Amino acid sequence: MTIYGVGEEMRTALITGISGQDGSYLSEMLLGKGYEVHGLIRRTSNYNLSNIEHIKDRIHLHYGDIENENHLCSILHEISPDEIYNLAAQSDVGVSFQIPEYTGLTTGMGVCRLLEAVKRFSPKARLYQASTSELFGNSPAPQNENTPMMPTSPYAVAKLYGHHMVRVYRESYGLFACCGILFNHESPRRGLNFVTRKITHAVAEIVSGKRQTLWLGNLDAKRDWGYAPEYVKAMWMMLQRDEPEDFVIGTGETHSVGEFAEYAFEVAGLDWLKHIEVDANNLRPNETRLLCADITKAKTLLHWQPDINFRGLVNIMVDADLKRIR
Ligand code: NAP
Ligand code: GDD
Repeated sequence: MTIYGVGEEMRTALITGISGQDGSYLSEMLLGKGYEVHGLIRRTSNYNLSNIEHIKDRIHLHYGDIENENHLCSILHEISPDEIYNLAAQSDVGVSFQIPEYTGLTTGMGVCRLLEAVKRFSPKARLYQASTSELFGNSPAPQNENTPMMPTSPYAVAKLYGHHMVRVYRESYGLFACCGILFNHESPRRGLNFVTRKITHAVAEIVSGKRQTLWLGNLDAKRDWGYAPEYVKAMWMMLQRDEPEDFVIGTGETHSVGEFAEYAFEVAGLDWLKHIEVDANNLRPNETRLLCADITKAKTLLHWQPDINFRGLVNIMVDADLKRIR
């Protein structure tokens, strides 16, 4: 099924970060709409494309790196995409404290390189930049598009640079470029380094007798967790509008890490208090304590809102990890 009118040409999309959680769901969605989908992947010594294995024959993969503007220029020159989704990033907030400079080069400067390449080779393309609720840091909740941005990590500072660069290129060169300020979104494809998947994976391992204990960090931090496939739809919707604008995307519901763990263990018939230990190595030098989205603008102008709530998300993730391990 396609979304195009009769006689309209197939649209082409380029996704950086196609092998990640969001890149894989976005690719599936765009293929379903009849797009020709291209993705940027890095060369790694170990095969790292499990999220897109099932669609690899239907997408076009290009080796490159968001750290190299030449790669970006030649891909844009070669494929002339209609839409570009910049999802590539060192996306682990905790790790960004250990490798701040590298995080700045990929998560921040990567956006600058891509914008320059777009300006030179694809000025008519529409660009989506993956901004984040981490930009808000500890500004009071609920956070919306007008909330002051006060990042609390090297990751968020790098994202803030990218966020403003998108605005600067939009205003200075007339690019159709916008940012989705997405709150945490999760799925069975979430990396094991993130707390939700770390928990649901551990639940499955405990159920199957592989281990007894899960070591976590700050159990009090609160996040607005949604379901990733619904969020990639919002990315696409932002690029279909007449004018480029930034949108906050989330659920408006917030829960602590402890609540996530408690419910995930409960779904599997376990008592979380018997299995969770706190390990100081999982604590961060600084923390965003409370995130909760105000999605009034997305509901009103984008006509987007999520269907899957907190409990629905935890059920999906625990079920998937239990199935995977059996
Ligand atoms: P993810 O699973 O960590 O995926 C990140 C992707 O970026 C991977 O495909 C990774 O490739 C790629 N990448 C990393 N460094 C790169 C480089 N130097 N050159 C090219 N590609 C590189 O992240 P995600 O959860 O899908 O999130 C997608 C984007 O949204 C990220 O920018 C993230 O910061 C942002 N975001 C995520 C959330 C969320 O809750 N998920 C919320 C707000 C914003 P490898 O597989 O080779 O590592
Ligand atoms: N990763 C991790 N591991 N986090 C833990 C742990 C642990 O063992 N224990 C507690 N936490 C807490 C973190 O301190 C944080 O407060 C919360 O769990 C969520 O951590 P992550 O799942 O790593 O996600 P994040 O909120 O830091 O960042 C994610 O969401 C951002 C959007 O708000 C990432 O996807 C970012 O890329 C994204 O921008």
